[in-house]
Amino acid sequence: MIFRFISAVALAALLGTSENITSSWAQTGPAQAVKERVQIMKSLWPEYYLDMSRAARGENTDFAAVSAKAAGASEALKKAGLLFTPGSGHDAVPESRAKPEIWSQKAEFDAALSALITETNAMGEAAKSGNVEAIKAQYAKIGKACAGCHGGPTKSGGKFRLEEL
Ligand code: HEC
Repeated sequence: MIFRFISAVALAALLGTSENITSSWAQTGPAQAVKERVQIMKSLWPEYYLDMSRAARGENTDFAAVSAKAAGASEALKKAGLLFTPGSGHDAVPESRAKPEIWSQKAEFDAALSALITETNAMGEAAKSGNVEAIKAQYAKIGKACAGCHGGPTKSGGKFRLEEL
């Protein structure tokens, strides 16, 4: 299982374009796919973006570490993308908050995911420069890219996520 998942990720890395970002689905059942993608989504803020936000406020000047966090976040996002397997929406897995638009407007969903990865990679570059103003500007773009799919508060909905009831 883990092996097939890794090869799907490797394949996606090879393909690499926005159109293909979610085309190499992880070989995993719907309930497991939901569990794994929600785990990744929940890890984004505490594991990766918190450090970037602190750098944007001038509170974290370990720029090499911030750049590494950006790279880690992009990898995590690519994995999450592969876990939105067809048939794993809210209808099939009630605890999922994934909206049907993920699959009916797949090009838009892929574009929203790609946009966040692009802005996150640009954060990596901004961090390497050590320019706090650039980091701050980049952090604001990341916030907008998250909002391409859903709002900031955990319970909020959005274009691709159902509001938590
Ligand atoms: C490409 C679309 C997309 C982008 C961009 C995106 N998310 Fe998500 N996110 C989702 C979807 C869809 C779900 C719901 C998944 C499910 O329940 O199956 C979700 C769920 C979550 C959850 C889980 C909430 C819970 O408790 O169930 C968190 C936390 C989260 N996202 C954080 C973030 C953060 C932080 C960012 C930006 C750094 C981000 N997301 C960007 C699509 C996205």
